[in-house]
Amino acid sequence: MTDTTHRADDPALVRSQAAERAEDIGLSPAGAPTFGDVVAARFHRRDLMKGVLGVGAITAALGPAALASRTAAAQTADTTPSFGFRELSSTPTERAEVAEGYAADVLIRWGDGVLADAPAFDPRAQSAAGQARQFGYNNDYLGYFPVPGASDPSRHGLLCINHEYTNEELMFPGLGRQDWGGPLGRARAFSGMTPELVAIEMMAHGGSVIEVRREGGRWQVVAGSRYARRITADTAMEITGPAAGHPRMRTAADPAGRRVLGMLNNCAGGRTPWGTWLSCEENVNGYFTGRLPEGHAEAVNYRRMGIPARWYNWGDHVERFDLAREPNEANRFGWVVEIDPFDPTSTPKKRTALGRFKHEGAAGIVARDGRYVLYSGDDERYDYVYRFITEGRVTGDRARDGDLLDAGTLAVARYNADGTGDWLPLVFGEGPLTAANGFTSQADVVIETRRAADLLGATRMDRPEDVEANPATDKVYVMLTNNSRRKPEEVDAANPRADNRFGHIVEMLPDGRDHAAPRFTWDILVRCGDPSVATVGATFNSRTSRDGWFGMPDNCAIDADGRLWVTTDGNFPSRTGRNDGVWAMETEGAARGTSKLFFKCPFGAELCGPEFTPDGETFFVAIQHPGEADPEDARAAPATFENPATRWPDFSPDMPPRPSVLAITRQGGGKIGS
Ligand code: FEO
Ligand code: CA
Ligand code: CA
Repeated sequence: MTDTTHRADDPALVRSQAAERAEDIGLSPAGAPTFGDVVAARFHRRDLMKGVLGVGAITAALGPAALASRTAAAQTADTTPSFGFRELSSTPTERAEVAEGYAADVLIRWGDGVLADAPAFDPRAQSAAGQARQFGYNNDYLGYFPVPGASDPSRHGLLCINHEYTNEELMFPGLGRQDWGGPLGRARAFSGMTPELVAIEMMAHGGSVIEVRREGGRWQVVAGSRYARRITADTAMEITGPAAGHPRMRTAADPAGRRVLGMLNNCAGGRTPWGTWLSCEENVNGYFTGRLPEGHAEAVNYRRMGIPARWYNWGDHVERFDLAREPNEANRFGWVVEIDPFDPTSTPKKRTALGRFKHEGAAGIVARDGRYVLYSGDDERYDYVYRFITEGRVTGDRARDGDLLDAGTLAVARYNADGTGDWLPLVFGEGPLTAANGFTSQADVVIETRRAADLLGATRMDRPEDVEANPATDKVYVMLTNNSRRKPEEVDAANPRADNRFGHIVEMLPDGRDHAAPRFTWDILVRCGDPSVATVGATFNSRTSRDGWFGMPDNCAIDADGRLWVTTDGNFPSRTGRNDGVWAMETEGAARGTSKLFFKCPFGAELCGPEFTPDGETFFVAIQHPGEADPEDARAAPATFENPATRWPDFSPDMPPRPSVLAITRQGGGKIGS
């Protein structure tokens, strides 16, 4: 029987505290103006839009440009259908639950075979060679691509899945509380982490491509698919765009600075119109260890990215992850990776034009003039929201569109207190991005995107996660997951709460509904948390039930009818009285700001990768880190491989909890949520 109380040095507790802290490492500089009392004005402005005042008063308050774009959006109001499912109870359960009338089937789990020659999963006899052929750990982003020539594109496709990170304590048997490293491994020396376990971890990262088919109402993985692929922390990738070949990208193993092994901590992502998968490197700082040589030129750059964080001890066994031995390797991570899922022999490309930071995702939309526009959040406390616009236009011809992401304009968002906003271009030679500030080319700007954005005066946000444009309305939704460090004097219009533990969602509308426009208007869709606790300051619509509110929005999806679905990371019984899950969110009309609980995760898991098939009849979701400990429950047992409470969804005595991809469908058919 294990000790059932958490001590301050419990690995589970330490990891979760460190993960919290991890979002706080590379602080952007303070100093932007604060607008403590603008909050009330923002909500007053929403009242204006509801018609409390006449048109003349609205024009005076907002200005004609803001009004024009708002009016365009208002024309779509009330046309969005409401959600037709019966809401779940938010009472936490050990197992996953979906709304009545729906089925949630496990499609694939950590350790299941991806390649035809994958060995059967035996968690007590894992190997790097086996893991390189099996489904990786902690599935985050999911992208669905219809297979060319499919008789029904919504029933036969490829799923591209990111494997973001590993939980050694849940993956490997016998790693006691002192034996695994975790984010604060420096103090623990990773005594249980052998070179063999590190090699398995490296193979459990990256991504998977699987072919899936819906037959007889059920989705299944196509065995022996010619598309099947595992990408790992060792897969060869090409570096393209402004930083390719730059001296700061060169290493002993790659003197040309154009070829890197692997992608790390791939969180969310995107799909392009030309049929590629974008996979985003997020907390790459955690993989580096050691110290830069004294006086090294990358010191400021690495400090801003929180490098090294030593959440993993790979650098003890693999030279390139040790800064002392390979000082430039860390510049080769933190990018958006573009992968052709239809050719398993293709070389993934790190597209440096999109900047280097802790990319959450890269969801895009075609602008009116045909250029491709990608939105991306930098998930760190006080970091920024970015936009990239390609120079060239989307043609639909894959061969011609293939390298569109190598040239374009990266910009960072400034949210003004009057409800307008500006995209500030990150272009070498413009404004402060010159040699006087250490930028001698666009390569320097993209390698040190955060520092460039600091100099431009971007708005410091409460951890930007997914950013998704709704093609039906052109509104862009920004999930801001939380920032409990924000002080009262740091409150601003777009981040209106100090001690923001529950996050909020910002809604942006590009001027003229043109995603390439230099300006936008914005509003806050909802401030999250328990609306019944006045001090929380949540602003869900009063139609929201006590099961329907949530905290910590993380990922989102827009369905075929232009409706918003929000998934969460960080709800625990001790924090919000509920597990993480999926909530359907009204964005238009009188019901705007109402949410309903559709799916809840098993204990300890977060919900990732929400993705609909084109017909809206299947909703794929990813269950990440089931079994992680409740960070604020002092009575919880340590989360380990051996802890039976964490064995979801197998509940078998020999199985650890397994991150899984689920296919949610409606019994009897039909669109999800209608
Ligand atoms: Fe990997 Fe921002 O979550
Ligand atoms: Ca996320
Ligand atoms: Ca997350």
